[in-house]
Amino acid sequence: MSLTISPVMATFCARVSGVNINQPLDEATFTAIRAAFDEHQVLIFSDQAMTDEQQIAFSEWFGHLEGTRGVNPASGTPFARQSNLDIKSGDVIPADDRRMFYQKANMLWHADSTFKPTPSLCSILTARVVPPEGGATELASTRAAYASLSEKQKQEIEDLVIEHDFAHSRGVVGFTFTKEELAGMKPARHRLVRTNPANGLKSVMIGLHAKCVVGWPEDESRALLDDLLARATRPENSYRHEWQQDDVLIWDNQAAVHRATEFDAARHHRLMQRTTISSGIKSNL
Ligand code: SIN
Repeated sequence: MSLTISPVMATFCARVSGVNINQPLDEATFTAIRAAFDEHQVLIFSDQAMTDEQQIAFSEWFGHLEGTRGVNPASGTPFARQSNLDIKSGDVIPADDRRMFYQKANMLWHADSTFKPTPSLCSILTARVVPPEGGATELASTRAAYASLSEKQKQEIEDLVIEHDFAHSRGVVGFTFTKEELAGMKPARHRLVRTNPANGLKSVMIGLHAKCVVGWPEDESRALLDDLLARATRPENSYRHEWQQDDVLIWDNQAAVHRATEFDAARHHRLMQRTTISSGIKSNL
């Protein structure tokens, strides 16, 4: 078997085959996977039935794993659990439970962990239990959003700084935090324009957590962020992944946004395990 990279769209998403990512990898294989990730922003693997330990081992090739915040059902583990199943009992979580409400924000376009001072490089999502219908994940290219701007627009946004705020983004779906949860949950500031050091390609780091452009009036700030998101999510820049059991997706959190989609959570089960890998580069803004 040899590693094959098959682009799904001209400049976004590729399928990777000919490799078992559950087995220890060698340096050359990972280098090829990493190069494909830098080029395509989203990688799709099939038939990779993973244990938590195997997911951690594969994820660590990309860097240091983030811990998960208090409200996520998998809090205290290296996983962010996207699921309607109780982590201990395996029972379906009632629709009005806070844990389900918390996950609602995942259905709006976002990039993971942009609200942290050290933003994420990428996320790895593994399909452990897939509903028979619904529950697809959609992804869109913020590299394409940047590329669609005129040279003048690119210059205008080059030095902008964005404030990303987790309390703001959960607030958009009406989720509120307790005082204790809010303590220490400070917004983070990041440059809007990101350059991938591997290939010099630029993207914009946007999505639900992006609250405002620092120093701009609220309406102008919102208009710019909405415009960039609309560019990223044009049909020609986006991809919808209909999950099969044991699929694995990796996405670049600085060059893509994603969102979960509805499924019948009262009738069907869905369990996706996400590891989130830190960029290791703390913002100094
Ligand atoms: C996520 O938002 O990180 C997960 C998306 C999904 O569950 O489809």
